Amino acid sequence: MDITFDMFIETEVPEDEVIISRTDLKGVITYVNETFANISGYAPEELIGKPHNILRHPDMPRSAFKDMWETIQAGKTWEGYVKNMRKDRGYYWVYAVISGVYKEGKLVEYKSIRSPVPEEKRIEMQRLYDRMRLEEGENVRAVMYLGTETYEKLKKRADEEETSVERLIASLCG
Ligand SMILES: Cc1cc2nc3c(=O)[nH]c(=O)nc-3n(C[C@H](O)[C@H](O)[C@H](O)COP(=O)(O)O)c2cc1C
Repeated sequence: MDITFDMFIETEVPEDEVIISRTDLKGVITYVNETFANISGYAPEELIGKPHNILRHPDMPRSAFKDMWETIQAGKTWEGYVKNMRKDRGYYWVYAVISGVYKEGKLVEYKSIRSPVPEEKRIEMQRLYDRMRLEEGENVRAVMYLGTETYEKLKKRADEEETSVERLIASLCG
């Protein structure tokens, strides 16, 4: 199936561990600590060398990352709430502090240090990001229950057309 239940399973971020990653200046991961790997569900070697958007959750509005990149590229620190997608498509929320790493005064990398987000804040941010995506004309999250037969037909047709069920539904709408 395309849409698995795993997507709705949240992983709790531990209170007492630091969660760190570093990237090159283009956002390619150069380092992750063990806690980071555990929470994301990937092995460190699966993450190193990959663009950091490997963790991007479709619930995140594009404008949040645009603001993040503009801030860090201007040499400032960006702080904000990020919902990430795990390897198994589950999710976790972090409060991230992202800034430059300097060697002899020269910007060489970026680093991100993360901490857990209280449950009420996660709910507030989910609502805010849903609203932002809607206002910015991005993806809308639509969860639906289809009859097995209907789903099987959609899936068969999507497979035949070498596309996904989501894209097939979009194309059926013209
Ligand atoms: C140090 C650092 C850490 C980042 N951490 C994350 C992260 O945890 N999750 C995420 O989705 N993007 C993270 N990003 C931003 C990604 O590079 C990327 O801009 C974002 O996922 C949006 O993907 P897109 O640019 O392909 O739309 C990080 C960037 C930097 C520089």
